[in-house]
Parts: sequence; C-alpha cells; structure tokens
Amino acid sequence: MRQAGRYLPEYLECKKKAGGFLKLCTTPELAAEITLQPIKRFDLDAVILFSDILTPLIPMGIDIEFTPVPIIKNPIRTEKDLKQLKIKPIAENLGYVGDAIKLILKDLPIEKCLIGFGGAPFTLACYLLKDKNDKDFSNLKKFCFSSNKNYFALIEKLEEMSIEYFKYQIDSGVEILQIFDSWAGIFNLSDYQKFILPSVKRIIKALKKHSKTPIIYYVSNGSHLVDALLETTADVLSLEWRMNIKEILKKIKDKNKKIILQGNLDPFHLFLLERNLKQEITKIVSFFENENFIFNLGHGVDKETPIDKIHFAINCIRSGR
Ligand code: CP3
Repeated sequence: MRQAGRYLPEYLECKKKAGGFLKLCTTPELAAEITLQPIKRFDLDAVILFSDILTPLIPMGIDIEFTPVPIIKNPIRTEKDLKQLKIKPIAENLGYVGDAIKLILKDLPIEKCLIGFGGAPFTLACYLLKDKNDKDFSNLKKFCFSSNKNYFALIEKLEEMSIEYFKYQIDSGVEILQIFDSWAGIFNLSDYQKFILPSVKRIIKALKKHSKTPIIYYVSNGSHLVDALLETTADVLSLEWRMNIKEILKKIKDKNKKIILQGNLDPFHLFLLERNLKQEITKIVSFFENENFIFNLGHGVDKETPIDKIHFAINCIRSGR
C-alpha cells in the first residue's frame, strides 16, 4: 500500500536523482533499492515490489504519464482502439521487473517475504478508459453498459496479459502475489458478479495451476461486495478501512471458507495522537483473537504521514499479539 513512497525522504531523493517515477520503475537497481527502503527503517514482515499496476500497459501501446496521478494520453475509446491493444511477450518487454525481483531477493533477509503485484483487469480497464474529465470512472461504466461485447473483449485481453505477467513474477521469485482491484466497488453486487468476478476467478485458477504462491485480493470501498469477494478463491482478502472485520469473519465461518483477512487500518489514522492510534490498532487486533491475520493499512500511505507514527504503530501491533 505504497509502502515505499513519498513520505520517505530517501525515496524522494532517489526519485529526484532519477528524474521521475517511471524511471524508478524501469531501472532494476533503483526499483530494488526503493523496494528495500522500508525494511531498513521499519520492522515489517514483508516488502512489496516497487512498480505500478499501470506499467504493464506500456508495452500494450499505452502512453502514460505520472503527475503523480496517472494520465493516459491515448485512452481507449472505440472498438478500433481496442483492436490496437497489443499483447507482447512479458519477459522481453517487462524484463526490468524480473531483474528487480532478482536483485531484491539477493539482499532481502531470509525471514522477510517479497510480495509481487498487479492490477485486476477491471481496475486496469478503469484507467485505460479514463480521460481528464472522467473523475469517477464513469467512462468505464458507459463503455461496459453500452457494449458488453467490447467490454468483455477488453477484459479478456487484459486478463491474458495479467496471467502472463503474474506467472513471470512468480517465476522470477516473488513469494506472494497481491491482485489490486481497487475500483471494483464502483459496481453493485450483481454487476460485480457478472462483469468482474469471472475474470478474477479465471486468473486465480490459472495461477493456482502454475504454482502454490498464495494470492491476496484487494478491493477499495467494497463492503457491498463481501458475498462475492468470498467467492474469488483468493487465499487472502485485503480489506480497506470501511470493511467490517467482525461481520466478514462471521461470514467466513458460516460459509466454512479458509480465507485469511488482511487489513485494515485507515491510513489517515496514522495522523492520530498516539493513544488514539493505539486504540484503533487494538480494536483491529482484538477482532482476531486466535485467528491468523495480516495487519496492513486499508489503502496507500499518505505522502504527509509522520514517520514516527509508523514506528509507533508497528510497536503496538507487535505487542498486541
Ligand atoms: O509500495 C507499494 O505499495 C508498491 C508500489 C505500488 C505503487 N502503486 C507505487 C506508486 C503499488 C502496489 C501501486 C499500485 C497501484 N497503482 C494501484 C492499486 C493500489 C491502490 O492505490 O488502489 C493503483 C490504483 C495505482 C495507480 C496509481 N499510481 C495512482 C492512483 C497513483 C497516484 C497515487 C498518489 O498517491 O498520488 C500512482 C502513482 C504511484 N504509484 C506512486 C507510487 C509510490 C506515487 C508516485 C510518485 O512518487 O510520484
């Protein structure tokens, strides 16, 4: 959740030297150095590969600028644009990712874990259709509901690329994969089941056939989707801060599922006074009692987050178990 990012002065320094965010992602030595920055400061159990969900779209023919909010200069509009989206061999076109993974693993302490990641096709499609006037991904909704055929053609292309990209990360050495479906919550439950869930299930099925690597699935603002989220077949469900852990744990038990939960501190709670922050953390930890879980933020670290609060939060989490 933007574990390495703008709240860290060492990240900002690297970015300044490199001359931009994309340069950091595409230079294996820099991506590896940045990936490892957070564990030099914090007692974390895992690092997440430094990259972005949108970089694999570049070899497909998409021109992206990070301002740092991503701007797609040639968004998909028509069936013709869709046909021009290319599927290129991953290793030849995204080799910098595999190279970064290998460099990270050389320096990563053995007890720490490396998380790989990518976007789910739906969330990638949200960005592919977005232009500067589209504040809430309504372009994606218009595209989907006006032509189911074009929508599914786009999703299937992104799915094919994503499966190859995830397999490539696994083969390069990542130990867990997180699939980000950040914007899936813009659909209601039945639209999620019809337009998003089948593709997520197909990706997870293909990856399970390929390896035993555990898979985490994340949706932001998805409280209304919980019943479907429990059907994705992911090993771990990553919850954002509005999701109700107690209710979800009960559903998991009632349905006899073996899903681990991850989450879900509001990243802005890191701005609370220490005693209030501790209360919020204790609340989350206490939901789990004897259950396994992965403590995490509910979304990305904000760029103004005070670093001392992250140290404090980690100490609270460690002492709460
Ligand atoms: O530390 C990590 O979490 C790993 C690296 C990572 C980044 N982006 C780096 C990044 C990961 C896992 C992502 C995923 C990502 N990227 C998602 C899914 C997670 C989510 O936030 O919902 C999405 C939707 C994107 C697209 C994207 N990239 C956005 C919306 C932004 C702007 C974010 C912001 O804070 O303004 C980016 C840029 C980006 N990706 C930054 C970082 C560190 C900031 C770029 C900078 O330093 O200038």
